[in-house]
Amino acid sequence: MKLKLDYNNMMADFVGAQGISQADIDGLGNRIVAAHKALADKRGQMAWRDLPHNQDDIVEEILEYVAEVLPRIDTLVVLGIGGSALGPIALQAALHSPLYNFGNRPRLFVLDNIDPTTIKSVFAMLSLETTLFSVVSKSGATSETMAQFMIVKEMLETRLGKERAAKHIVCTTDTENGNLIKIAKVEGYKTFYVPNGVGGRFSQLCPVGLLPAAFCGLDIRALLAGAAEMDRAIEGNPHNMAYMFAILHYLTLKNGKNITVMMPYSDNLKYTADWFAQLWGESLGKRYDNNGNEVFVGQTPVRALGATDQHSQVQLYMQGPFDKVVVFLAVDEFACDIDIPKTFEDMPSIGFLGGNTLATLLNTQQKTTAYALQKAGRPNMSITLAKIDEHIMGQLFYMLEVATAFAGELLNIDAFDQPGVEEGKDATYALFNRPGYEAKKAELEAAPPKNPKYFL
Ligand code: PA5
Repeated sequence: MKLKLDYNNMMADFVGAQGISQADIDGLGNRIVAAHKALADKRGQMAWRDLPHNQDDIVEEILEYVAEVLPRIDTLVVLGIGGSALGPIALQAALHSPLYNFGNRPRLFVLDNIDPTTIKSVFAMLSLETTLFSVVSKSGATSETMAQFMIVKEMLETRLGKERAAKHIVCTTDTENGNLIKIAKVEGYKTFYVPNGVGGRFSQLCPVGLLPAAFCGLDIRALLAGAAEMDRAIEGNPHNMAYMFAILHYLTLKNGKNITVMMPYSDNLKYTADWFAQLWGESLGKRYDNNGNEVFVGQTPVRALGATDQHSQVQLYMQGPFDKVVVFLAVDEFACDIDIPKTFEDMPSIGFLGGNTLATLLNTQQKTTAYALQKAGRPNMSITLAKIDEHIMGQLFYMLEVATAFAGELLNIDAFDQPGVEEGKDATYALFNRPGYEAKKAELEAAPPKNPKYFL
């Protein structure tokens, strides 16, 4: 494994009373065995677990499509939200420079919101003749994505005519459910599928993540091979990194740590923390357990970035409430490095920096922040990537997905639904007069705030 989980600083031996003990972990013995068995038994319903192994044909199809389309496009715009956007963003950010769009083709824009200001400024940078729009929606019904799609479709058809416009749209959606697949068939759009049993936030390793990655020249076979390697390591052995990540979080949650902070010391991994925040938050934040009891369980994911947030949030992590666990992401070998010159040797208070490198400084800061947290009695763990490449990112994504599913088992909740998201979606449909939502509209209209309070 080119991924390492160091959890010394989670242990009471290192952080004192706020930490956990080997006896705590051992005490979960039967639960761990049961959760491992439950995941194995349910594997047939978790199609996302097999994505690393069963997509040879799909990979071929994606690569053929990319080779065919690439010569005529210079920009790919992904329209999607939540699980349909965060994975592609995380992968692109991990493996390319943040300035990728300035010097490389195709440029990649992921429009994961409906703020007209952003959308208009992206549109202003496009030539429609050389842009491909990738509409991604598992349900084929999400208001934000469908609204974007409707705008783009009309824009393309007005400019290019219906027939040519169809060559500038590719859809990734469910094989049969939802409107998008119906429209795609009628309009003749190229279509890729989110397999049954692959939910939005677990879809990074299917065409949702693979298609934009392939367009931007990433090695999607290596990504899947990394995930497959992680799967083999997990499947054969209940003492694995993914389970340990979940167990450590589960025990700290029981110990009042309601927040987990993911803090990469790498700009490339900044959006991996965003992706993880959705995975952990939406999967584990649940009102009911599997027996129907009200449990109101979950752990709030927070994103931070080292070293930047050392000068912002770290004060809170060091001395604020004992309600957090911090997960560092570190990288052993950066893609490049910069020497710090020995400029001020006569000024010891800054001269000491000279002769080192920026990567060494960043990695040292990760270690010293972990140490300082440990000294302050704050549980933290570090996931270290040997370097950032497709293979290791495949390992990391897959490990965190299985960890989330395993945490769901320990918490005895359904990690794969999101009923809490539905109320807001339904209210939007009602206020936009979607047929079938009349009762919801009446409910909303009947409930004006009794004593509205405003500051003007
Ligand atoms: O994880 C999830 O299921 C959600 O975050 C979805 O990805 C998000 O709501 C977008 O849904 P869809 O892909 O159906 O448009």
